[in-house]
Amino acid sequence: GVATSYDSPVRIAVIGGTGVQALPGFTLIASLNVTTPWGSPSSPISILQHPSPTTGKPIPIAFLSRHGLHHEIAPHEIPNRANLAALRSIGVRTIVAFSAVGSLQEEIRPRDFVVPDQVIDRTKGIRPFTFFEGGMVGHVGFGDPFDEGLAKIVRQCGHSLEGEGVRLHDKGLVICMEGPQFSTRAESNLYRSWGGSVINMSALPEAKLAREAEMAYQMICMATDYDCWHDSEDVNVEMVMGHMKANAENARRFVGAVLDELSKEEHGEQVLAKHLDGMMMGAGSIT
Ligand code: ADE
Repeated sequence: GVATSYDSPVRIAVIGGTGVQALPGFTLIASLNVTTPWGSPSSPISILQHPSPTTGKPIPIAFLSRHGLHHEIAPHEIPNRANLAALRSIGVRTIVAFSAVGSLQEEIRPRDFVVPDQVIDRTKGIRPFTFFEGGMVGHVGFGDPFDEGLAKIVRQCGHSLEGEGVRLHDKGLVICMEGPQFSTRAESNLYRSWGGSVINMSALPEAKLAREAEMAYQMICMATDYDCWHDSEDVNVEMVMGHMKANAENARRFVGAVLDELSKEEHGEQVLAKHLDGMMMGAGSIT
C-alpha cells in the first residue's frame, strides 16, 4: 500500500472541487489521515510528486478533495476549519483551489475559467467561519480576499494554454451563496445588479480561513452553467457535472501548468507566502 506519513513540509496544495476529485498524472507517494482540533478534513490528503521543471528535483504537492473522495459532502457540510488546519499542519503555505461556478455574465460561457479577485459573502452564518474564538481574538484584513501574487502566476499559466482551448477571464466577483438549493431568479438578477461575475457555494469560508492561517490562496473557477437569470435552461446538477467532465482535461492541464510554475525555484518566496504579515498564529494550535 501507499505510505501513510510524509516527513518533510509540503508547501503547495490543490483543493479540488466538483469534478476535480483527483489529480491524475502525478505520482501518489503518501495518503495522510490528518486529524485536527476541528475534526478530520473532507478526505485523506494525497501527497503527490511533481518534478520541478527547472531543477528536475521532485516537489511534493498536497491534494485535498473538498467534497470528499466520492462527492458525499454537501457545500454546507464541508469541514472547512479541519481542511485548512490540516493543510497548514503539514506545512502548506500556498493553495490553489478549484470550484465549479454558475456564470452571471453573458461573456463568461460554460467551460470558461475565471480567476476571481473579489467575493461577496452570501453564506448564511451556519458554517463555522473562523479560527479566532474561545479567547483567541484576531482580525485579519480581507480587502483583497485572494492572493494577488499567486493570481498573477495562475493567470499567466491559464493564458499560456489559450492555444489549447482554455478560455480565461482575468478578474471576477464571486458570489458565494449558502445552498444547497440553487438561487431564485430574483436573487440571480440581484447578484448581476451587484456586478457579480460568477456564483458558487464554496469560496467561503475557505478563503477566510486560509487568510487567518496565513496561507496564500487563489481560487480558479470553471463555469458550468448560466445559473437561472439567462434565457438558456436553468442550472441543474447534470449540467454542472456534464460541463465539468467535458472540461476536466483542460482543468488538469491548467493545474499542471500552475504546479510547474510554482515548483520553479524563483517562486520560493511566493510559495512560502512570506509577504503576508505575521499575525497571531503563535498562540493557537495551528503551527
Ligand atoms: N456551482 C455551479 N453552478 C452554480 C450555480 N448556478 N449556483 C451556485 N453554485 C454553483
